Amino acid sequence: MVKMNLQVLLLLWLIGLLWCTEAVSQSKPNCPESCGNIVVPYPFGFGEKGCFRPETGFELICNQSVSPPMLLSRNNSVLNISLDEGTVTVNTSMAHMCYNNSIKEYVGSSNHTMTNLTGTIFTYSDTRNMFTGIGCDTYAYIMDSVTELYKSFCASLCNQRYVITNGSCSGVGCCNTPIPKGLKVFYMGVGNLNYQSKAWQFSPCIYAFVADRDWFDSSKINISDRPDRMGDSRVVLDWAVGTETCQSAQKRSRDYTCGNNSRCDNYNNGNGYRCKCKEGYEGNPYLPYGCQDINECSNSSKYHCEGTCKNTEGNYICSCPFGKHGDGKVSCKGFGIITIVSGVCIGVVFLLLIASSSWLHRLWKIRKQIKLKERLFKRNGGLLLQQQISFNQVGVKPKIFSAEELEKATDNYNETRVLGKGGGGTVYKGMLQNGGIVAIKKSMTVEESQLAQFINEVALLSQVDHRNVVKLLGCCLETEVPLLVYEFVSNGTLFDHIHDMRDDASSMPWGDRLRIATEIARALAYLHSAASVPIFHRDIKCGNILLDENYRAKVADFGISRSVSEERTHLTTMMVSGTPGYVDPEYLQSLQFTDKSDVYSFGVVLVELLTGERPISYSRPSEERSLREYFILSMEADRLFHILDNRMTKEAALKELVEVAKLAKRCLGFTGRERPTMKEAAAVLEDLRSSHGHPSLPQNSLAGDIAEPSSRSLHNANVQESFSLVASFGIETGSSREDSN
Ligand SMILES: *[C@@H]1O[C@H](CO)[C@@H](O)[C@H](O)[C@H]1NC(C)=O
Ligand SMILES: *[C@@H]1O[C@H](CO)[C@@H](O)[C@H](O)[C@H]1NC(C)=O
Ligand SMILES: *[C@@H]1O[C@H](CO)[C@@H](O)[C@H](O)[C@H]1NC(C)=O
Ligand SMILES: *[C@@H]1O[C@H](CO)[C@@H](O)[C@H](O)[C@H]1NC(C)=O
Ligand SMILES: *[C@@H]1O[C@H](CO)[C@@H](O)[C@H](O)[C@H]1NC(C)=O
Ligand SMILES: *[C@@H]1O[C@H](CO)[C@@H](O)[C@H](O)[C@H]1NC(C)=O
Ligand SMILES: *[C@@H]1O[C@H](CO)[C@@H](O)[C@H](O)[C@H]1NC(C)=O
Ligand SMILES: *[C@@H]1O[C@H](CO)[C@@H](O)[C@H](O)[C@H]1NC(C)=O
Ligand SMILES: *[C@@H]1O[C@H](CO)[C@@H](O)[C@H](O)[C@H]1NC(C)=O
Ligand SMILES: *[C@@H]1O[C@H](CO)[C@@H](O)[C@H](O)[C@H]1NC(C)=O
Ligand SMILES: *[C@@H]1O[C@H](CO)[C@@H](O)[C@H](O)[C@H]1NC(C)=O
Repeated sequence: MVKMNLQVLLLLWLIGLLWCTEAVSQSKPNCPESCGNIVVPYPFGFGEKGCFRPETGFELICNQSVSPPMLLSRNNSVLNISLDEGTVTVNTSMAHMCYNNSIKEYVGSSNHTMTNLTGTIFTYSDTRNMFTGIGCDTYAYIMDSVTELYKSFCASLCNQRYVITNGSCSGVGCCNTPIPKGLKVFYMGVGNLNYQSKAWQFSPCIYAFVADRDWFDSSKINISDRPDRMGDSRVVLDWAVGTETCQSAQKRSRDYTCGNNSRCDNYNNGNGYRCKCKEGYEGNPYLPYGCQDINECSNSSKYHCEGTCKNTEGNYICSCPFGKHGDGKVSCKGFGIITIVSGVCIGVVFLLLIASSSWLHRLWKIRKQIKLKERLFKRNGGLLLQQQISFNQVGVKPKIFSAEELEKATDNYNETRVLGKGGGGTVYKGMLQNGGIVAIKKSMTVEESQLAQFINEVALLSQVDHRNVVKLLGCCLETEVPLLVYEFVSNGTLFDHIHDMRDDASSMPWGDRLRIATEIARALAYLHSAASVPIFHRDIKCGNILLDENYRAKVADFGISRSVSEERTHLTTMMVSGTPGYVDPEYLQSLQFTDKSDVYSFGVVLVELLTGERPISYSRPSEERSLREYFILSMEADRLFHILDNRMTKEAALKELVEVAKLAKRCLGFTGRERPTMKEAAAVLEDLRSSHGHPSLPQNSLAGDIAEPSSRSLHNANVQESFSLVASFGIETGSSREDSN
């Protein structure tokens, strides 16, 4: 069983071998393929008759009895057969003569030779061969012996041994000349030119031959060699099939020898035609199926392909790799998939780098901002405030807002959010995250020296909890300028309601005015006494009294209010502050602010409520420019009812107006001692309010009656003047907010 299998395998192998060798065979089936190491392709052949074309010349003889076997064409030894070029290389003898010293002459029977290729397929190749003569003082000749249409001659002269160098053959020791086309029969010979010459000493023999140029160029010819050493020369013979042109041969298809996938070439060196494999095929075109498709894809050194190679019959397809375009056989252009992938990768890495760097930059910026905020927080006394807050166990603690929170709340300090601008800074309306509406005050820069004081104040004011005082909710210290966050009061200032000409100046009824005055008095009384440390407002004026939606007064703007502690009470180094028209004349003299200074300012507000006049007005005569003077003078002149607001005289009880005027006059006393405390003032006003009962009285009932008694009582009031001081202060300070309106 095993043996059987082995035999089958052996048979298969043999068949395969046979098939393979046949596939590359250049000869007819069953014909010898080579003689020795020379391949003998059809139409040449030897042995049996069908192995070669019938024309004379294709039959060769292979002498196997010599080693290596010798291939002969008639009397010549065949060295090479080329189907592509249609040539055969054979050896050929030279014509020659040698010098006989006894007779002092060149002699030799081989001085001329004749070659006759008539009737054979061969012709001397005019492109591959040259007629050559060798020797000193020698001539060589060649001629077409039949027609003598062709004759040629060359001569060589020399006197030296070393004349033929590197195959150059230009008349010194050697001469050559081309041969014509179609040469089949010729006669050639060699002769000596000069008998006296001594050239025989180094050129004892002279030669003439037709030879392959390549062979001659590459052989080392020694001019001194005798014929036996010189050997045979080589000559290239052209050959063709038949005697007709391609066209006529193809017509007589019986004899036509070019096989499948081959084409016919006309022969230009005689009669006949030649066969060539078509492009993309290789093999023996003289055999019926000799031309085989070339698998171009298996030979990348000859058939270039940059992409995917696919062999086809007679050709091949080369498609460029994915992403590239162009002819793959020449070169593929564009970016290949690898290039694209690597490009994309590089791009992605690049983008990542950029992204990460910008991310790092952002991080760095954020860090920087955080650092800046921390620095500002420290500079603005944040630590001090924190300390204060933790120290103060009781009361409400001020909230510390972050800069970001307030930026969001004010829409990045948008101009449309500005509620007001003034000496104290800019106030913005803000909406906190929890929906609470606040007023955010951007104050002026706090001096380093006043920092502790500022922080104290924030801590203190945030503890103030009175319904008639605007509540300080907290602050933000992370910004360049500290921000204070207050409760938002919606209805504008008292100033707007009693002075603003857009409204009817008398729009606010007496009842509201009395209530507001009472509320202000209460708030100030609370600040002066009820709070843990006395707080002076320092800038009481209509513009600092805010009104909420119910017209309830809320004292605002503690920007310059100062808490008064023991050691600071008598310090008088600070600048005079306050608003012209409201400033206590005693404070201007002594530079010592007391609770009575607030009382004075409150007095001015009371007068404003009564009269609707402004604290300083240039429309009044110069001695009455200050509202205090105007009021006091009017009272002394019993003209109080002339200066009161019309609406007040209509709505209010006479007694009430007089009481309030009296209180105002006391508040405006020149020295603090004359003035009541805020507590007293608040009590007076509250008494009035409780007895007030009816907000408005019948309009006609007052006018005449009240004039006398009130003016009399006002007349008795003891007034001390501070006219010049206040007036000059007002003028010197220039325009205040009230004046510019
Ligand atoms: C082969 O060569 C030998 C020796 O040169 C010679 O004797 C013999 O006749 C040759 N045979 C043929 C067939 O030419
Ligand atoms: C071969 O050479 C011999 C002797 O030199 C000669 O008789 C014979 O004719 C030659 N044959 C051919 C085909 O030239
Ligand atoms: C012809 O034969 C010589 C040696 O005999 C060899 O060097 C040369 O390559 C051959 N030429 C061709 C075209 O086969
Ligand atoms: C060619 O060489 C062979 C063997 O060397 C020789 O027998 C033959 O005579 C030579 N023919 C010519 C023409 O020189
Ligand atoms: C030279 O010529 C003489 C006379 O003809 C002859 O006897 C001799 O053999 C020749 N020598 C050679 C080398 O051929
Ligand atoms: C060539 O040789 C022949 C016979 O051998 C002779 O008759 C003839 O004179 C010679 N020619 C020359 C130029 O030597
Ligand atoms: C050459 O040979 C052919 C036939 O082989 C013959 O007819 C012709 O006369 C010969 N030519 C010469 C010049 O000998
Ligand atoms: C001839 O060729 C050889 C090698 O190619 C070189 O060495 C030599 O110099 C050449 N001689 C001349 C005269 O060109
Ligand atoms: C040529 O041959 C002669 C004798 O055969 C020899 O003396 C000489 O050296 C050779 N020259 C060259 C260049 O080989
Ligand atoms: C070439 O092959 C085709 C079939 O493949 C055949 O019909 C044709 O006769 C062949 N031609 C030759 C010259 O062999
Ligand atoms: C490829 O082609 C070159 C040139 O024709 C040839 O030298 C080489 O042997 C070939 N290689 C293969 C594997 O066919």
